[in-house]
Amino acid sequence: MTCFYSELEKMSSENHVKLHADPLASKKEAWSGRFSEPMADFVLRYTASVGFDKRLAKADIAGSLAHARMLAKTGIISKEDLAAIERGMKQISEEIKNNTFKWKLELEDVHLNIEARLTHLIGDAGKRLHTGRSRNDQVALDIRLYVRDQIKLIVSLLEHLQHSLLSVAEKNIDTIMPGFTHMQIAQPVSFGHHLLAYVEMFERDRQRFLDCFKRVNVSPLGAAALAGTTYPIDREFVASQLEMDSVTQNSLDSVSDRDFAVEFCSCASLTMVHISRLSEELIYWMSFGFGFIELPDRFTTGSSIMPQKKNPDVPEAARGKTGRVVGHLMGLLMLMKGQPLAYNKDNQEDKEPLFDTIDTVVDTLRAFAEMIPGIQVRKDNMKQALNQGFATATDFADYLVRKGLPFRDAHEAVGCAVRLASEKNCQLHELSLEELKQFNSLIDEDVYKSLTLEGSLRARNHIGGTAPEQVQFQVNRWKKILAERE
Ligand code: ARG
Repeated sequence: MTCFYSELEKMSSENHVKLHADPLASKKEAWSGRFSEPMADFVLRYTASVGFDKRLAKADIAGSLAHARMLAKTGIISKEDLAAIERGMKQISEEIKNNTFKWKLELEDVHLNIEARLTHLIGDAGKRLHTGRSRNDQVALDIRLYVRDQIKLIVSLLEHLQHSLLSVAEKNIDTIMPGFTHMQIAQPVSFGHHLLAYVEMFERDRQRFLDCFKRVNVSPLGAAALAGTTYPIDREFVASQLEMDSVTQNSLDSVSDRDFAVEFCSCASLTMVHISRLSEELIYWMSFGFGFIELPDRFTTGSSIMPQKKNPDVPEAARGKTGRVVGHLMGLLMLMKGQPLAYNKDNQEDKEPLFDTIDTVVDTLRAFAEMIPGIQVRKDNMKQALNQGFATATDFADYLVRKGLPFRDAHEAVGCAVRLASEKNCQLHELSLEELKQFNSLIDEDVYKSLTLEGSLRARNHIGGTAPEQVQFQVNRWKKILAERE
């Protein structure tokens, strides 16, 4: 037994130093004196959260100041105590900003670290701050404040990315590329139209985050440990101090649910799934055989062995990181599923997946917003690809329908024409009028107009269609929407 635990202790201590590079954690002597058995060190490291929740410090201080102001306003603490708390918190904020604040593992988490420092700086007033509050409602508030700010950042990054996509779309309204279904060439589309599809997706993502914001921006403070508090608190005042829209209505729910974090990760997962689809396209558009685009050099890498290689590392990394973000969503759902009301220590496990989700989405959106305007479009290669797939076959069928043939018969006739073109290794418009006429006598000289790529595009002229006129309309619509947001 002893041997097993001491091995475990050694391993976890090594891991810890590596993972957090926390000088306090690596200096055993800073805290080990207080523990008589080695197991305690391990338990402390196992249950402490300061290594990762210190990023909540700003939110924690803002929440504490709002709470302290409420305590003073309701007469629960004195004005002098409030002044001392404000003074102490100011200094602590400075110390954290200047990196001189000493985080201590033995103080478990961000809340106890800040409170201990406050008491050290201002004495008893610091000890009164926690009146009518518990770390359970405190941490729920901190995460909400933190996520609220991150939503604002993510929404602005999504808007930036929409701008980037729009700028490339605008330059490529008339650029014709193959549209695919089943990864087979289907019909010609405008490249601008294709990019605008992503502008739509990122708009829905943006709206989802904004909707999530409403449920995040609610104050749980006052729920205390789980049942509320005996002091005459003013919860609405705290909420208004923090610019939160309302207060939660059930104390047990307030401290125990993390559905807002799950919801946030779900919004993030969908955003990453959209990024991942775009990544997949950028990767194959850039591959040999397609050559539709080039990515700016600074977003690609070379190979250490193959001198010719230029790899689309940023889209590939983003596609990979999507799995990580979706995994965090699954992790959070599993974290919640077995927890009885109210607060349980399990909830501390919400932070690492949540923070990593935020970091990943923020970095990814930044990278894409910067990379997209640098895309070089190889229009010739896009067009060239269209000379291989009979992309105007549907237009041919539509032509026959306009001449009075039922669609199914038109489909059949064009299918035969495609077979002939295939055998002759040519395109539909390269078949002579005589050859075409054998499939249906309604076919005339004017068929060739329907077989051109430009004609095919122009014909899809309705809301949401790929006709350049419509794409221009959408570009203008988006320009207006984005300009109004600035
Ligand atoms: N570090 C804890 C968390 O993240 C704070 C709340 C602790 N509450 C408690 N009763 N131990 O959830």
